[in-house]
Amino acid sequence: MKKVQLTETVLRDANQSLMATRLPYTDYEAILSDMDKAGYYSIECWGGATFDSCLRYLGEDPWERLRNLRKNLPNNKLQMLLRGQNLLGYKHYHDDVVEKFIELSIKNGIDVIRIFDALNDFRNIATALEATKKYATPNTIASGCISYTQSPVHTVEKYIEMCKELKTMGFDTICLKDMAGTMSPYEAEHLIKGIKDAIGDMTLILHTHCTTGMAYMTLTKAIESGIDVIDCATSCFSGGTSQPATETMYYALKQYGIETGLDIDVINKVNDFFKPVKQKYVDSGRINPKSLATDAQALVYKVPGGMLSNMIANLTDMHAMDKFDEALAEIPKVRADLGYPPLVTPLSQMVGNQAVTNVLVGERYKNISKEVKNYIKGEYGISPAPINEELAKKVLGDAQPVDCRIEDSIRTGEEFVKAKEALGDLCRSEEDAMSYICYPDQTLKFLNDRKAKEENEAVYTIEEM
Ligand code: CO
Repeated sequence: MKKVQLTETVLRDANQSLMATRLPYTDYEAILSDMDKAGYYSIECWGGATFDSCLRYLGEDPWERLRNLRKNLPNNKLQMLLRGQNLLGYKHYHDDVVEKFIELSIKNGIDVIRIFDALNDFRNIATALEATKKYATPNTIASGCISYTQSPVHTVEKYIEMCKELKTMGFDTICLKDMAGTMSPYEAEHLIKGIKDAIGDMTLILHTHCTTGMAYMTLTKAIESGIDVIDCATSCFSGGTSQPATETMYYALKQYGIETGLDIDVINKVNDFFKPVKQKYVDSGRINPKSLATDAQALVYKVPGGMLSNMIANLTDMHAMDKFDEALAEIPKVRADLGYPPLVTPLSQMVGNQAVTNVLVGERYKNISKEVKNYIKGEYGISPAPINEELAKKVLGDAQPVDCRIEDSIRTGEEFVKAKEALGDLCRSEEDAMSYICYPDQTLKFLNDRKAKEENEAVYTIEEM
């Protein structure tokens, strides 16, 4: 019997897309033992924005969250999303940092590492792959991921070439990441048939979003065209800027005579558990109705769910939601100027923020963010198409773009020494140091809070005695 497996995304991407990753671990701990029996291909539960959100907003140690997930999901493959050389941050890290991060991720419980580069510049994912292979357990899967987008330079042939390259590099599986949900059923059919022909029996995964309303049709075509794994979210956390629904796809696949390996009673129970969790965040306003709706305009703007909900949050904070439509319309223009980068982290934030700045300032590129300047300098990799000449000249002057790999290939251990010095006795593990390297300010605050909390607890315990 033909088989298509499902990855459950409620703990990572659905959480990230619908509620800016603010779901605390304690909200879902109680359902993990059930989720463990559901029969998913994997559970996406870490990486992406979860790491930052843990430290910045939730007062959680992301490593502790991962260890807890591992403990409560012993039979599932735990999956994370990793931005290649950017890890979970917004800049390029040295190779030794990338290697250590992956070593610690696997050590703390990760099985599947889905690795992508925003620009599909595969030099930026080579070190992460090498490290994954080096520290691999029998359960480890290195998944090479392509950031899918449409532009005059992103053709089916181009994507097939990319997949061949990922296979040659030594990845175990390949994932097509349609972060904005703009892949049409027609495109899915052509892409997936073409890719399957080129890579043989290597597992191919489709990650898409419901943002534009096309996801279910696209998944149907993908399934007919030979996709092996699809990403879905438990139904109450599905739709809108999130993934298609797990249970819905289960029923549809069943009638196709395709096996999923899912236990329908368990996946229904998982959804029942998450219903009041979702309602809590709808009531508090954390889940904005905008992110639950279908927005076909995204077919024009190519804006991924996480980016849209962040943009809404930022504009709301600045009391500038009246500029939303204008900022949205500015995004494709900025994207074209920058050589059609796929809108995925960190490029989605960079392009989104620049578009908002252009609109709020009232003059395009009067203020250019440091990140966009660095992108134009070539520090993130090669742009898919050339950058607008005038804009490039404004940033570079007479200088030439740099080769992103020159500085990054240094393995000095320097970052770890600096982190340990900066943290002093706050640093109790390699994981603490790694958090600091990734998010220095947030980690320093988090570790200080942790210490203060422990001291308070100590005082409290003495008084009680
Ligand atoms: Co996604």
